[in-house]
Amino acid sequence: MKVMVIGGGGREHAIIKSLKKSPKISKIFALPGNGGIANDAECVNIGAKDIPAIVDFAKNENIDYAVVAPDDPLVLGCVDALNEIGVKCFGPNKAAAIIEGSKVFSKNLMKKYGIPTAEYFVFDNAEDALKHLQTAEIPVVIKADGLALGKGVIIANTRKEALDAVRSIMEDKVFGESGNNIVVEEFLTGPEVSVLAFTDGKTVVPMVSSMDHKRAGDNDTGLNTGGMGTVAPNPYYTEEVAEVCMETIFLPTVNAMNSEGRTFKGCLYFGLMLTPKGPKVIEYNCRFGDPETQVVLPLLESDLFTIMQAVTDETLTPEMVKFKKGAACCVIVASKGYPVKYENGFEIKLPEATEDSFVYVAGAKAEAGKLFSAGGRVLGVTAIADTLKKAVDKAYEATEKVEFENGFYRKDIGKRALDCLK
Ligand code: AMP
Ligand code: GLY
Repeated sequence: MKVMVIGGGGREHAIIKSLKKSPKISKIFALPGNGGIANDAECVNIGAKDIPAIVDFAKNENIDYAVVAPDDPLVLGCVDALNEIGVKCFGPNKAAAIIEGSKVFSKNLMKKYGIPTAEYFVFDNAEDALKHLQTAEIPVVIKADGLALGKGVIIANTRKEALDAVRSIMEDKVFGESGNNIVVEEFLTGPEVSVLAFTDGKTVVPMVSSMDHKRAGDNDTGLNTGGMGTVAPNPYYTEEVAEVCMETIFLPTVNAMNSEGRTFKGCLYFGLMLTPKGPKVIEYNCRFGDPETQVVLPLLESDLFTIMQAVTDETLTPEMVKFKKGAACCVIVASKGYPVKYENGFEIKLPEATEDSFVYVAGAKAEAGKLFSAGGRVLGVTAIADTLKKAVDKAYEATEKVEFENGFYRKDIGKRALDCLK
């Protein structure tokens, strides 16, 4: 079968590497892909948000199946447009992708169906929000309603920060239209867990759990980023916690979306916080996480494409999804200055890949057989092993071998997880 994958980051590289193992697939295109993905798929210079061009390409190339990986095209209705021309897809339609596309929608969904999450208020004008924040408990969390490149969440530790956040989102429109509405919510505490789950709208099959490291600096200091590294499984996510999450969060969410006439099919991402009052939803994403996918998929034993087809055809069963016993670690190598300002165009030399240690390329382009940096997050150096400690050590061993003058990485990916295991 001819498959196309929409997107061009490390997550897409991991998805493509997994799909490549499927005997059912004869050809993989990546739209637009990147300089590293080019070794595993044919890259086509079409942007992930250019839905008319994506549809034309699918028609002209007789594509059999599409994996729509990033949030933007999903929220814009890429799956709907491809389904209209008869191309089967992995990913939710526009009606269901709203679970990530609008935080007001997802918060109201959780409230209506009793799914545990932080207490919240919604505002559609700055005046009311500012008034509310004069007396709200601090710290408080302020979230732009729409997509904001992962930056639309502000944790205000002082009242001034909270008021400034509202002004910059609602008056200065730093996130554009995404900030027309805001959610102001209770600050929660506890370890965070990412759980990606396959669902065909009837059955929910969680994948191995993972832990992201969102801050740019060691010991969770510095600015929030798209994610500086991940480990799987997440040791805080015990079997007992998993059971509670399935009963109080995963199944109720899928059922709630069905009740709303917005059946979700694809990968549903649960961003959870294990609070003293039990697991609560911090956020939903309508897609595979990045860089969670880079540690989850290397541990998948089953054929990813078979699972994806079952999701599309609504024949998913838990038996189809088997994971290896071991652990994985992904260390992100980013351009110096990320997530604020950085330069591109530095040459990168990668260490030799082995069976259990490899590099997913997130932001680089290839020229004359060489690789050059072209993004904030550039590489995801990943390793798998039978224990988390070994996976972390192996990932760092490979990271140290990367030649990339303008790169930096956190030195403590996996530390919190390893401390939890002590
Ligand atoms: P998000 O973009 O929704 O993933 O939020 C980014 C990060 O902000 C999360 O990973 C949490 O660390 C933090 N966060 C979001 N909501 C809350 C909350 N209600 N309480 C505490 N931390 C939060
Ligand atoms: N790693 C968080 C996300 O994919 O949104």
